Amino acid sequence: MDIRLNSSKLGTKEYWDKFYKTEHQNFRDHDDTGECWFDDSGAEDRMVQFIAEKIEEQAITTNGNAPFKVLDLGTGNGHLLFALGDELEELDVNAEYTGIDYSADSVQFAHHIAQEKYSLRQFTFQRVDLLSDDAFLSEKFDILLDKGTLDAIALNQEPLPQFDGRIGMQVYSSQIEKLMHSDSIFLITSCNFTEEELTHLVTSGTLLEKWDRIEFPSFEFGGAKGSTVCSVAFRKGRE
Ligand SMILES: C[S@@+](CC[C@H](N)C(=O)[O-])C[C@H]1O[C@@H](n2cnc3c(N)ncnc32)[C@H](O)[C@@H]1O
Repeated sequence: MDIRLNSSKLGTKEYWDKFYKTEHQNFRDHDDTGECWFDDSGAEDRMVQFIAEKIEEQAITTNGNAPFKVLDLGTGNGHLLFALGDELEELDVNAEYTGIDYSADSVQFAHHIAQEKYSLRQFTFQRVDLLSDDAFLSEKFDILLDKGTLDAIALNQEPLPQFDGRIGMQVYSSQIEKLMHSDSIFLITSCNFTEEELTHLVTSGTLLEKWDRIEFPSFEFGGAKGSTVCSVAFRKGRE
């Protein structure tokens, strides 16, 4: 399966720096916490509910007294982490939340929101480029989330010298795999790929296996069925 998207400005760091600089200013001026990607599809709520239900069913275990470690990949304004934080607090889960993003403006913005609105909780935001900051990749997390980040990475076709000229979307899943232990769950939501394409991209060349999926309402057009976004959860199989 050869999957490629066209290049777009949404695949560049300059775009996201400018975007989060503006959003941060809006927050300072109007207390607006900014864009929630795929809000039309209710993606954030569904991702949060999916994790909460899996915890309640004990399909995901939360480490007893040790903090349950949650990582948001390409966190933007951190909204998904804050929403999950609210939900897991209700379930009495002792969790630590880390958001990473390659845009320093995103990190400053999310950190500012955490300080102003969630000061009592355990949120950390860090500038990390998933495709080059290998030092970070030695850490392991229990839940890894991606909402729209692979979509953005896939819009950049620049060959990466550190990966023998392969492009970001071709190396993304092996980078994610490094952040996972054998019980970690990786939940990703995309608007650019079908469920089949996403599964192919994530599982090719890694130990990751499809574990579950989130149902979204589907539409029918010209006899073909589709939905605007898809979310798939993966687990790391044994070596
Ligand atoms: C479509 S936005 C989604 C933001 C957030 N997940 C949300 O749902 O609001 C894509 C995000 O991916 C980040 N990003 C893109 N490439 C990245 C990379 N190589 N490493 C880390 N973050 C990246 C961008 O800065 C941006 O915040």
